[in-house]
Amino acid sequence: MSQPMSSLASSPAPSISLQARNISKSFSTGPIHNTVLHDLTLDIRAGELTLISGPSGCGKSTLLAILSGLQRADSGEVVALGEDLGKLNQRALERFRLLHTGFVFQGFNLFPALNALEQVELPLSYLGLTPGEARRRAQASLEEVGLGPRMGLRPSELSGGEKQRVAIARALAKDPGLLFADEPTSALDAANGQIIIDILHRIARGHGTTVLCVSHDPRLVGHADRVLAMEDGRILSDRVPTPASAPT
Ligand SMILES: Nc1ncnc2c1ncn2[C@@H]1O[C@H](COP(=O)(O)OP(=O)(O)O)[C@@H](O)[C@H]1O
Ligand SMILES: [Mg+2]
Repeated sequence: MSQPMSSLASSPAPSISLQARNISKSFSTGPIHNTVLHDLTLDIRAGELTLISGPSGCGKSTLLAILSGLQRADSGEVVALGEDLGKLNQRALERFRLLHTGFVFQGFNLFPALNALEQVELPLSYLGLTPGEARRRAQASLEEVGLGPRMGLRPSELSGGEKQRVAIARALAKDPGLLFADEPTSALDAANGQIIIDILHRIARGHGTTVLCVSHDPRLVGHADRVLAMEDGRILSDRVPTPASAPT
């Protein structure tokens, strides 16, 4: 494939897969009007783990919900994988989210009665995959997060870190272009938190996925490709962190 003259460097420039332009969002509770996001603009690249770091209440979850199409901004635009989300009706937006986005939350959100393999298979049925293909993909995703030998276990038989790896496998199995993680390590100890963030990093690199993680945990900073510091609904800085020690 021919390359434009401007990108003849040894590796092609990573492509921007998620853009927010002049996003604002407020909530009104009775007479109190709270502006949570202030005219926020950012570009997120595919194949990288981008971390948005900032204190509780600064607007991280709201930003993630808007970037993933779960909530609408009051003004501004979000372009995700080339699609202007503001121009999609509710049905098209839900389909976009189903096909292209994966989510990982602080609380794992697993079904108590299902084993790990069933947790990962379940959402694949909504994508129209055959049961055989769903099983093959679910097994491959669980193996990728290191849970191949434990895929027959239910949440009550798994540690917190293992539960979060099931949740990551569930998000990964549909091979989403965009993977969002909201405080994925907050319920975990430091060692398990590091395993989780390193798995997210490997997914970004290995699959070319856009991985956007928000967290108030400063220990994650050294594990990301890029860190955006957020405070009071604004991005204060955008930097490449000093790498943490290599994952074990
Ligand atoms: N649905 C809502 N209604 C009213 N206020 C909200 C709502 N969602 C978030 N907020 C407020 O927006 C601010 C930012 O919240 P949030 O995005 O959850 O921050 P973070 O994820 O960084 O902790 C907080 O003050 C919160 O109370
Ligand atoms: Mg939050």
